[in-house]
Amino acid sequence: MYYNSILETIGNTPLIKLNNLADDLQGTVLVKVEYFNPGHSVKDRIGLKMIEDAEKEGLIEPGGTIIEGTSGNTGMGLALAAVIKGYDCIFTTTDKQSKAKLDMLRALGAEVKVCPTDVEPDDPRSYYSVAKRLSEEIPNSYYPNQYDNPSNTQAHYETTGPEIWEQTEGNVTHYVAGMGTGGTISGTSKYLKEQNEDIQTIGVDSKGSVYKKYFETGEFDKDEIHPYLTEGIGEDIIPENMDFDLIDAVMQVNDENAFITTRKLAQEEGLFVGGSCGAAVYGALEYARSGDFGEDDLMVIILPDSGTRYVSKIFNDKWMQEKGFLD
Ligand SMILES: Cc1ncc(COP(=O)(O)O)c(C=O)c1O
Repeated sequence: MYYNSILETIGNTPLIKLNNLADDLQGTVLVKVEYFNPGHSVKDRIGLKMIEDAEKEGLIEPGGTIIEGTSGNTGMGLALAAVIKGYDCIFTTTDKQSKAKLDMLRALGAEVKVCPTDVEPDDPRSYYSVAKRLSEEIPNSYYPNQYDNPSNTQAHYETTGPEIWEQTEGNVTHYVAGMGTGGTISGTSKYLKEQNEDIQTIGVDSKGSVYKKYFETGEFDKDEIHPYLTEGIGEDIIPENMDFDLIDAVMQVNDENAFITTRKLAQEEGLFVGGSCGAAVYGALEYARSGDFGEDDLMVIILPDSGTRYVSKIFNDKWMQEKGFLD
């Protein structure tokens, strides 16, 4: 048996039980480990889907250029699909991202432009604005825009949701995912709630993001926004892929709790994963411990990416000390 290309290996990632971190809980806590994807993150699912849908709609033609604003993982997913399908890639990103992530994109032949983090999204220097401008200037280019592209949510509706339902044999009661573009949580939650409307969906947000307050009060409060270090979750905008109607609770997690939990996942569970995974697990366990999680319950937490992208940060003692997260 063989695969026709690397793209056929995307998805069908394993569900793995948390043994030590959740041993005080009566129910079962499972994690879905997305670093088993070929580009080592959950974003391989949407990279391929957004390009395939664009091809079907005639939005990109052979030899074209894919342009996206990405923190690295979506870039990797798009770059993998672009290599196999013969497109060029240009990615804009922020100066907050790990150098390793950018080097990995370059390794797949992509051009990467680094933009400042601390500017407003509509500032012409922001990575959103630069991506948009380049896509207007460069002919036969396609700007997938993972924030507002429905193919992002649809990829999870078609793959992540059904996988969790089948892997748990329909026994999943709680689903937990970080909230970035919203694609993972919205698409998966939609599918799962269609199978069983009692399934509770818990979103994990980062301190410094607008989501939690927006979810709880309906107010977009700019005062909530401040810089933070957890990559991939939390926003200063409300993307179209974020469907709050499919979310039952939002937990907000700070960098310190996210990163200490990320280290525990490696050292106590053998799960070498990224910082947003620590945030997701911390938020999920905090939710479970607050009461709504019993003996017969089964929680599935999405772990979006791999620890390899953070060796110079979360897994580096000096960096953790400098940031005040370790003594
Ligand atoms: C590392 C990481 N975690 C979590 C997420 C959140 O997923 P989504 O964008 O589907 O909401 C992302 C998205 O960028 C990510 O890169």
